[in-house]
Amino acid sequence: MTNDIACETERLILRPMTPADEGAFCAMMADADVARFLTSDKRPQSYEAAWRSFATMLGHWEIRGYGMFSVIEKATGEWVGRVGPWKPAGWPGLECGWGVARGHWGKGYAPEAAIASIRWLFARFPDLDRVISLIDPDNANSKAVARKVGEAETDEEYLFDGAIPLKIWSADRKAWLDRFGA
Ligand SMILES: CC(C)(COP(=O)(O)OP(=O)(O)OC[C@H]1O[C@@H](n2cnc3c(N)ncnc32)[C@H](O)[C@@H]1OP(=O)(O)O)[C@@H](O)C(=O)NCCC(=O)NCCS
Repeated sequence: MTNDIACETERLILRPMTPADEGAFCAMMADADVARFLTSDKRPQSYEAAWRSFATMLGHWEIRGYGMFSVIEKATGEWVGRVGPWKPAGWPGLECGWGVARGHWGKGYAPEAAIASIRWLFARFPDLDRVISLIDPDNANSKAVARKVGEAETDEEYLFDGAIPLKIWSADRKAWLDRFGA
């Protein structure tokens, strides 16, 4: 793990998550609106529970060599959320995930960071046919993001934690690169 910038957009910096992001990450997960679609019990996380989620995200970087990016607002240096690659064991594909701290919702940050992440994924993995996102059918905000970043809903489903059915959204390499550029 390094502090190197992975991608830059007009308003955001995306870089590997580091231990220094602990406080901002755990604060984000304490918010009920954010946690509703990110935790298996749909409840906000205590600091201790969020710490374990955070450790899983750092561990993903260690094991896979990539993982969710920390998203930083250029104008303020604030930690905005985590967006990007996610593929824990058993996952049905290479996902681009998104989660933004409640105070930063509605600024278009998730789609801006996700487009940069998907471009990064297709460049990093030349044989990758598609990038997916797993989305609860009730998560209107996330479905709005998926549409903005060029993903389409498929008829495939994944049972998260053996209990929560999530729909698989997908962006196919060629069509996506034709539309958004390499
Ligand atoms: C989904 C999420 C990442 C969107 O992030 P964002 O940076 O706010 O994305 P956008 O600004 O493009 O907004 C997306 C949609 O959220 C809704 N939204 C925007 N601002 C909002 C606000 N202040 N309050 C409530 N909803 C809002 C709108 O429906 C918007 O769609 P629209 O622009 O077509 O109207 C964010 O809502 C979030 O972190 N949710 C909790 C975690 C989560 O669900 N992650 C995805 C799991 S699959």
